[in-house]
Amino acid sequence: MDPAPDKTTLEVLLDQKAIARRVRELGAQISADYRGRPVRLVGVLKGAWVFLADLVRCLDLDVTVDFLSFTSYGDGVESSGSVKITKDLDQPIAGLDVLIVEDILDTGRTFEYLLGVLEAHNPRSIRVVTLLDKPSRRLRPVQADYVGFTIPDVFVVGYGLDCGGKYRNLPDVRILRTATDEPPAAR
Ligand code: PRP
Repeated sequence: MDPAPDKTTLEVLLDQKAIARRVRELGAQISADYRGRPVRLVGVLKGAWVFLADLVRCLDLDVTVDFLSFTSYGDGVESSGSVKITKDLDQPIAGLDVLIVEDILDTGRTFEYLLGVLEAHNPRSIRVVTLLDKPSRRLRPVQADYVGFTIPDVFVVGYGLDCGGKYRNLPDVRILRTATDEPPAAR
């Protein structure tokens, strides 16, 4: 990838080895917890796809995979009514153990909305695994069942996470800073 534009820096927060090690640990823990039960992974597009691709190969379970996609809300929009599904599940989840796969849990608005949508489909259980957790930014009373890394309130890109659609292909998680040190947008 080309270097970041002038005055933008990309400091490594979590390198490839640390991510790979933690994903293996999460895979082992999830495999033990769900032992003997089939699991439906539900990836939240787009950010979670890289994490899901690595995690699924660390699961020693009977696994199936589906995806959901939402529109983003604008800055300052507090109502969960502004979150809209743009790609629904392909297969029903009634009676299944569902594991939502997220790249980052930030304000919790996406996850809160997602829980409401999925619970209406009567799964046997719902849990969430997130690679990154920013509890300091939480606006909704939700938490993940499995967390890869708890991180401070910094704007991160890479390993699936973007800024304006860029940087998803970086193999590590990096802190993006601009010249003014202001984050490009809320996440
Ligand atoms: C990110 C991430 C979560 C959501 C978390 O998605 O993938 O779905 O934000 O934020 P919240 O806890 O504040 O709701 P984003 O809107 O960046 O879309 P993308 O995954 O397509 O990049």
